Amino acid sequence: MEQPVQPRQRPAQGRPILLASSEAHPLIKTGGLADVAGSLPAALRELGEDARLIIPAYPGAVKRLREPHSLCELRIPGSRGPVRILGGRLPDSEVPTYLVEAPEHFCREGNPYTDMSGRDWGDNAERFLLFCRVVARIGQGLPALDWRPEVVHCNDWQTGLVPALLREQPGQRPAVVFTIHNLAYQGLFDRATFDRLRLPTELWSLHGLEFHHLLSFIKGGILFSDRVNTVSPTYAEEVKTPRFGCGLDGLLRDLGGRFQGILNGIDYRTWDPASDPHIAQHYDAEGLHLKVENKLALQREAGLPRNERALVFGYIGRLVEQKGVDLILGILPRLLVHPDTQLVLQGAGNPAIEEAVLAAAERHPDKVATFIGYDEGRAHRIEAGADTFLMPSRFEPCGLNQLYSLRYGTVPIVHHTGGLADTVRHAHPERIEDGTATGFTFEPANADALWHTVREALLLYRERPDLWQRLAINGMRGDFSWESSARHYQQLYAAAVSEREAALPAA
Ligand code: ADP
Ligand code: GLC
Repeated sequence: MEQPVQPRQRPAQGRPILLASSEAHPLIKTGGLADVAGSLPAALRELGEDARLIIPAYPGAVKRLREPHSLCELRIPGSRGPVRILGGRLPDSEVPTYLVEAPEHFCREGNPYTDMSGRDWGDNAERFLLFCRVVARIGQGLPALDWRPEVVHCNDWQTGLVPALLREQPGQRPAVVFTIHNLAYQGLFDRATFDRLRLPTELWSLHGLEFHHLLSFIKGGILFSDRVNTVSPTYAEEVKTPRFGCGLDGLLRDLGGRFQGILNGIDYRTWDPASDPHIAQHYDAEGLHLKVENKLALQREAGLPRNERALVFGYIGRLVEQKGVDLILGILPRLLVHPDTQLVLQGAGNPAIEEAVLAAAERHPDKVATFIGYDEGRAHRIEAGADTFLMPSRFEPCGLNQLYSLRYGTVPIVHHTGGLADTVRHAHPERIEDGTATGFTFEPANADALWHTVREALLLYRERPDLWQRLAINGMRGDFSWESSARHYQQLYAAAVSEREAALPAA
């Protein structure tokens, strides 16, 4: 039975902060950005800030919004009809939330960025520019809201034009922070789109939004914000190199001290094996022996033989090149000859990768189970039921699943990159004993290196179950709650406000 999550109570005063995102859990989610946008404002409110959220009014989000009410209607260039702002709260917290209702732009079911066949909507530039225009209007103060943010916190390319628009406006503007959750998604469009959008022509320049003869949304965020950050310290260093910088490494290097990495937290209200409503058996670090019940339940759900001895590998994630699922497929012939090994995989994305993981399950029906699609509840059951979790991502700005795995005593095996490198400590025997090791890390990102480490994990699981359990408990004891990350964001907002004040013309 699903228990409703109790809303958080505390009243907010503090700094008015508007967090703008194209998705936020539990209103709409395709990946980790939604988890962050749904929980960071709640964590900031816990610290006393007046944090609020704004996202587009997709049909699913409107349905899930608590206490929805219409606040005002605006005339915004690019929309034929008036744009309405709906007010309300997130379903599981007190965070005041604004939805931007522009039916021709956002009234589309399913994935917010793509059509049913997985292709980007042809008018994404128009859609997210409209969203940016509304956020910028609120940033300048909208009497109908009776609230004005001191800081606008933008996230990823879909909000990248907010800082550019705010710089264009005369008069007071809020401080602007831009967070890069993934530099590989930049919001690039051709010159004809730039002309169609009727953006100020001076923005078409090397010192503006132009990027190799294309319009770049993300460049607006990087160039025109007071502070820029990404979601882990290691990724912040990596993106300043040509290898990870996706062509923007020079710009990021130029930001100097205005660019940094802040590790994401996770929401312990939704990701806690001691109270998770989605899983068969609750457990914690003291009762880790109970976790096996979740393995048996997962094997039943996945149609795999029920086998307590099996070492069950889990994978959940978007099926895209970034995530390195091909490395998992590459080790299967070596892995599955080992008795008592199973793999449960859930994801959606690139059709060729979907086909490849489905084919693996067809070839090994008693060892591999594949679920194509998005299923939040099953993601919790895989985290709870698997013994170990694979994240062979080629790059990973932060990564949340390895953090959920740590919390669930499901030992992560990760490529040593980005946020994965910042959150998982390799299982050297002495580090297991002294409590600092929490999982397995490998490099470089290829199937042989992954296999080498998976074999190490197999050996430990079979021959030293005492150490395996210690490793799992070490992970469960770590603290990846939002509180410390939210404090870092408070400092970032303060720095952005000082930066903006310093830039104001003297009175
Ligand atoms: P990214 O944001 O790059 O996709 P993260 O690890 O930061 O990667 O976050 C992914 C989030 O999306 C996690 O909460 C994960 O559980 C969830 N997720 C991804 N794919 C699925 C899926 N097919 N079903 C359920 N949840 C998924
Ligand atoms: C992105 C990244 C992921 C990160 C998430 C939330 O989608 O790919 O690593 O955890 O954003 O910040």
